[in-house]
Amino acid sequence: SLENKRPSDAQILAQARARSKSRGRLSMTTTDDFKFGTTLGEGSYSTVQKATHVITGQPYAIKILEKSHLIRNNKMHTAIAERNALAALGAGHPGIVRLHSTFQDEWRLYFVLDFARNGEMKTILNKIGSLSLPCARYYAAQLVDTIDYMHSKGVIHRDLKPENLLLDDSYRTKICDFGTGKVLETGVDRAQTWVGTAQYIAPELLEAKETSKSSDFWALGCIIYQFIAGRFAFQGLSDFLTWQKIKKLEYTFPEGFDNEAKDLIQKLLVREPTERLGVGSPGSENDIDALKGHSFFKPISWDKLWVDPPPPLE
Ligand code: ADE
Repeated sequence: SLENKRPSDAQILAQARARSKSRGRLSMTTTDDFKFGTTLGEGSYSTVQKATHVITGQPYAIKILEKSHLIRNNKMHTAIAERNALAALGAGHPGIVRLHSTFQDEWRLYFVLDFARNGEMKTILNKIGSLSLPCARYYAAQLVDTIDYMHSKGVIHRDLKPENLLLDDSYRTKICDFGTGKVLETGVDRAQTWVGTAQYIAPELLEAKETSKSSDFWALGCIIYQFIAGRFAFQGLSDFLTWQKIKKLEYTFPEGFDNEAKDLIQKLLVREPTERLGVGSPGSENDIDALKGHSFFKPISWDKLWVDPPPPLE
């Protein structure tokens, strides 16, 4: 089984230590290189703290993972998966929180990440309810462009949601938290199942035992719906009841919902994973260009998406 092929936590740590050592003490980063500030976020296995590099004054977000906690819960592989996903993505796209370096001490693992000054999209949504149509379109487009890049590098995120969309200095969005990410082996478009956050889980994850790039497109549909409607597409009184609704594709659009957006969402929230808009292999009539070419995105200039200023947040 996969369990048996995975290296033990002890092996993983020994390898990481050996790598650190081989790089030499002189070049090693430690916590002393940073002045730590406020807590930016907290997850089950990590906290993210603002930190300023003492020499350069450059702000970062440092994700801190407690080794003993990871080992106790058999989660060391998730830390490694996140590091691998971030490493595979490199510095190649403005829509992804970049990993600058990693280091560790006796107790913890540290990921030095881009600091996104304007926080989570979730906070914005909580504050203003829903986004204006130009905003929803702009952020949906940035998300599409980033997912395209991510998938081209063989990375699936598997937990896309407004909490994991951060806003930088210029209010452009950056995807973060690849803790549930998966780097696909070349040629293999399948990955083991992981269950994400209730409201954004694709139906195949609730039934079958695998996930693929198409699950990110389901989440995209849920997110665009939420941007515009100001509420979840699927919401029951419990996670179980939410999952029932997802499996039955039970959702409705509020009165006056933009027609182009509605058409787009209906082409993303499709039960059959391979039939979701954007999922087809390059050159097919259902590939990423078909998604980018959808009429909802007509006002978007894709080649200036990361250069043009965003519409005012409202
Ligand atoms: N919260 C979680 N990650 C963050 C980051 N990279 N920048 C700002 N806030 C965050």
